[in-house]
Amino acid sequence: MANFPRAALMASIGCVSLFVGHADAQTAWRAETLLQKMTLEEKLGQLVQRAGGRSKALNSRLDDAELERVRAGQVGSYLHVAGAEPLAKLQKVAVEESRLGIPLLFAMDVVHGYRTIFPVPVAMASTWRPESIEAAARVAAVEASSAGLHWTFAPMIDIARDPRWGRIVEGAGEDPYLGAQLAIAQVRGYQGADLSRPDTIMATAKHFGAYGAAIGGRDYNSADISERTLHEVYLPPFYAAAKAGAASFMSAFNDIGGVPTTANRALARTLLREQWGYQGVLISDWNAIAELLAHGVAADRSAAASLALQASVDMDMVGAIYEQDLKSALEKDPDLVKLLDEAVLRLLHAKEALGLFDRPMQYHDVRREKRSLLAPRHRELARSVARESIVLLKNEGGVLPLRAENLRKLAVVGALASDGLSMLGSWRAQGRAEEVVTILQGFERAAPKGLEIAYAAGADPRNDDTSGIAAAVELVESADATVLVIGEHFDLSGEARSRADIGIPASQLELAREVLATGKPVVVVLANGRPLAMPWLAEHAPAILETWMLGVEAGPAIADVVFGKVSPGGRLPAAFPRASGAVPLFYAGNPTGRPADPDLSKDTARYMDQPITPLFPFGHGLSYTTFDYSNLDIDRERVAADEEVTIAVTVRNSGSVAGDEVVQLYVRDPVASVARPVMELRGFKRVTLSPGEAQRVSFRLNPRQLALFGLDRQWRVEPGRIDVMIGSSSADIRATGAFEISKALVSDVPATAIATAVTVERVASGHE
Ligand code: BGC
Repeated sequence: MANFPRAALMASIGCVSLFVGHADAQTAWRAETLLQKMTLEEKLGQLVQRAGGRSKALNSRLDDAELERVRAGQVGSYLHVAGAEPLAKLQKVAVEESRLGIPLLFAMDVVHGYRTIFPVPVAMASTWRPESIEAAARVAAVEASSAGLHWTFAPMIDIARDPRWGRIVEGAGEDPYLGAQLAIAQVRGYQGADLSRPDTIMATAKHFGAYGAAIGGRDYNSADISERTLHEVYLPPFYAAAKAGAASFMSAFNDIGGVPTTANRALARTLLREQWGYQGVLISDWNAIAELLAHGVAADRSAAASLALQASVDMDMVGAIYEQDLKSALEKDPDLVKLLDEAVLRLLHAKEALGLFDRPMQYHDVRREKRSLLAPRHRELARSVARESIVLLKNEGGVLPLRAENLRKLAVVGALASDGLSMLGSWRAQGRAEEVVTILQGFERAAPKGLEIAYAAGADPRNDDTSGIAAAVELVESADATVLVIGEHFDLSGEARSRADIGIPASQLELAREVLATGKPVVVVLANGRPLAMPWLAEHAPAILETWMLGVEAGPAIADVVFGKVSPGGRLPAAFPRASGAVPLFYAGNPTGRPADPDLSKDTARYMDQPITPLFPFGHGLSYTTFDYSNLDIDRERVAADEEVTIAVTVRNSGSVAGDEVVQLYVRDPVASVARPVMELRGFKRVTLSPGEAQRVSFRLNPRQLALFGLDRQWRVEPGRIDVMIGSSSADIRATGAFEISKALVSDVPATAIATAVTVERVASGHE
């Protein structure tokens, strides 16, 4: 690492020590001592996670037989359970009535809120504001821990470049740099600085491997990607999460080139554990150890158990393979005993880190639970994060914002406008539809006196029922303006919700055509879980807001933006294609020998029937104001291995209202030993500027952030020119420059996992 300040680098990737920090000598000794006392059955029991209910019927399986299992030390953890009181009973049995008194771990998918449901993750990623995402995860942890939970299966940090994949809604989109930063933010939010506090919970970085690279965007499908893509694109968020101290990882369901991650020794044991030094818990996904048989890599259950243990999978989620079949694997191969002990120790250390051995009942304070769930300040945060998540895709002729005071009748059209459940997305934890302020209610609440809000459903987003369109059109005709809410019902995105055609569902599109045909002023509010291919809408609707699914405060947040109380400032974390057939489509592609050319008479890397650009590019998002960029400065021409380069630019609000700009820094290595992407995000900052205000935004890069995964599988920084682009989106570059890396070096950190330090300074007026 030559002279480079290693500590600074580790700090920039959010590096904190994991259990080593918590498992001090005394607690490490306690876990070891316990291990010595455990029978084989008790050890196996620690690796077992059972379903205490279903995700939509929590605790429903917690019967007497379960209590008996706990008493017998046959269970290490439950998922799909919740509630300070019911879980207190269960924990008491474990601690007081089992032979060794080892506490249970209670887990749940708290993905974007527990009771206070925040925007779905792809929406929160659209904020491009890690601080907000961390704060949302903090609230989720405060609520979940008050309800007896110790462990969430979040963040989902799979890079997703194919919007056919329904789980794109659960992550941060297509870019590894953005993904890594948002992964760190969520780990920090859930875990805080000290896991043993009663209001923090273990985070799970999931789904380790390349789950998002499923071929054809079909959930659970194989990934077949190059090693370079794996290391440069899919793994960096996991590296960042590991170094940020994520207490657990979950392996992906799918295989990479024929090796299911649940049995991937090279990836899990060698890379994650040995090279990255990860000491946290690795849990399988639901029944994934058993599914090794279906993958065709294990002949029987005992072989599946052996493969997973060898890959260092510590806990078997629900599949009961470790519970029933690991024993026979151990008999066949006594070398596995050592691996079993390691897995048990990692689970005991996790329980130690949570403070469960000393204070097992600290998560079961019923009064705290009551106070914390949906607390007013949690709702407030949900509203502000929802506002920040909204992306203004188009605003022709300044249709938005609507001036409420100039309207007498506003039509709100579209069944999704009154569908509270859809606003919660597919992982709604303990969120309740009746606690959502729907889009319609948001407008009703925000309307000034004298403004009538009238509603028509128009068409059902779940089916082909368009019988309400005529009445909706009549309403639109009678109103001064219309907010048309269309998109995807929540059940069209999420797990196992892949779509081959990612257009706007037919009934929704028909409604839009009819409403827009009236020629009256219409604002389209999209509610959906994935980038959509919507060329007709993009051309014909004058104003489009992408709002995804915004959680309990969806309505107020949307009304705030539509009525101009705040200017939208969200940005797309994944591109919108022009057609389903154009995916995967992402900005950071390689140049190819025949770069795409609009001239169809040339043979280039493009489709014949489509423009080469996305409908809306990565990083895109408009505002009610405008921003000027000026004075790009790069503080040195040549950068040595132990140096950093600072790239600064001045951004000024040149419009007449306050607004947020997301300043984006992209780089390109134009000549290298392997083709490099045409541009790659390496820094961003969302700034708030009042009219006329200017700020100087400075990004500090170090050469390791330009490392590529070399032909020799080393992270290599190659000497030569690096192009720099700063702008308002990947397709709206406002300033360019270059610097040179003067010397080659070898790094040991995935380039996109390293955070770029950003500073912001106000520029005195007249000095920009
Ligand atoms: C999903 C995981 C989830 C688990 C438990 C699986 O089907 O892939 O993301 O954490 O179920 O609910």
